Amino acid sequence: MPTFTVYKGRKDGKVTKSETSKPDLKGDEVFLKVTASGLCGTDLHYREQDMALGHEGVGVVEEVGPHVTYMKKGDRVGWGYEHDSCGHCEHCLKGAETYCPERAMYASADLDQGSFASHAVWREAFLFPIPDNLSDEDAAPLMCGGCTVFNALHAYDTQPTEAVGVMGVGGLGHLAIQFAAKMGCHVVALSGSDSKKEEATKLGANEFIAMKDVKEVKASRPLNRLLVTTSAQPDWEKLIPAMAPGATIHPLSVSEGNFSIPYMPLLLKGLRIQGSVVAPRFIQRRMLEFAAFHGIKPVIEKFPMNEESINRAMDKLNDGDVHYRGVFIPE
Ligand SMILES: NC(=O)c1ccc[n+]([C@@H]2O[C@H](COP(=O)([O-])OP(=O)(O)OC[C@H]3O[C@@H](n4cnc5c(N)ncnc54)[C@H](OP(=O)(O)O)[C@@H]3O)[C@@H](O)[C@H]2O)c1
Ligand SMILES: [Zn+2]
Ligand SMILES: [Zn+2]
Repeated sequence: MPTFTVYKGRKDGKVTKSETSKPDLKGDEVFLKVTASGLCGTDLHYREQDMALGHEGVGVVEEVGPHVTYMKKGDRVGWGYEHDSCGHCEHCLKGAETYCPERAMYASADLDQGSFASHAVWREAFLFPIPDNLSDEDAAPLMCGGCTVFNALHAYDTQPTEAVGVMGVGGLGHLAIQFAAKMGCHVVALSGSDSKKEEATKLGANEFIAMKDVKEVKASRPLNRLLVTTSAQPDWEKLIPAMAPGATIHPLSVSEGNFSIPYMPLLLKGLRIQGSVVAPRFIQRRMLEFAAFHGIKPVIEKFPMNEESINRAMDKLNDGDVHYRGVFIPE
């Protein structure tokens, strides 16, 4: 019966060290030792909940359950937001298990374990082998941040001829810039100020727009696609004029309240709004292969995995000061 350390949210927002015990491994469960965990903007939303935090995990397999078929002790594997699904509904059958009615996802299932932890037990079916040329610490932020933006681009048929806007140069945004650039797109980064211009350009942005300086966004080309990765919903009125007719807007921010957008331009420009959540497994695998092949890596800031440092990193992320993805490394 494995027992291990997890870090949990608490009512007053102070993340606290705790312990979890799991029953002996059954079915295709895998026991793994965590070697790196990303810190995603979504973790901030659950800091005050009584649940184990973290959903960008990478680790090494220590033990396998009786029905594990291909993973073995010593393998490097990662996991993200989704831990299980029914396997037989229409969504599961068509490779869209992220929309399975019985999906088990971070913050709504398996609240006893996360990636801010020493170990974890997950189903082999929802684990991903990490390509050799991706380190554990570089792979961790890809498990949620990377797959979310790659999914928005890949699942909705981005073409290399498109102009793609990426709003918010943070954990998700700095990866979106790299993916869209390697897909061959004209990439326009949209950021609050111009402080991230040089780095966004190095990551592959062809243009950079500081939102504070503009009343209406206008890039050198109308945008065929816009990924919104800010931690709050943007001012849509400012953004709509930048969109090409027939363009797709991907709002990815987790936000409370309603989605409110100027109505007539939506009709007159034939715009499409496409919501999405993380990535189904086949796209997650393609994302890892694409990142490994093109040398796409997150820009990371490392923190030791302990109570004090997890709280410090979360405060820093909340203040918008993490550069660009925090990664916890076990001590
Ligand atoms: N849909 C999904 O499946 C999914 C998956 C993962 C995460 N998310 C959500 O995606 C969002 C981004 O996550 P992340 O991990 O990339 O967070 P992050 O690293 O904090 O990046 C967010 C970026 O938003 C901008 N920003 C900061 N404060 C802001 C504010 N008050 N108003 C508007 N913009 C602000 C900053 O970019 P600039 O400095 O460039 O302006 C910041 O770098 C979060 O809401 C997260 O919950 C959604
Ligand atoms: Zn996330
Ligand atoms: Zn299902």
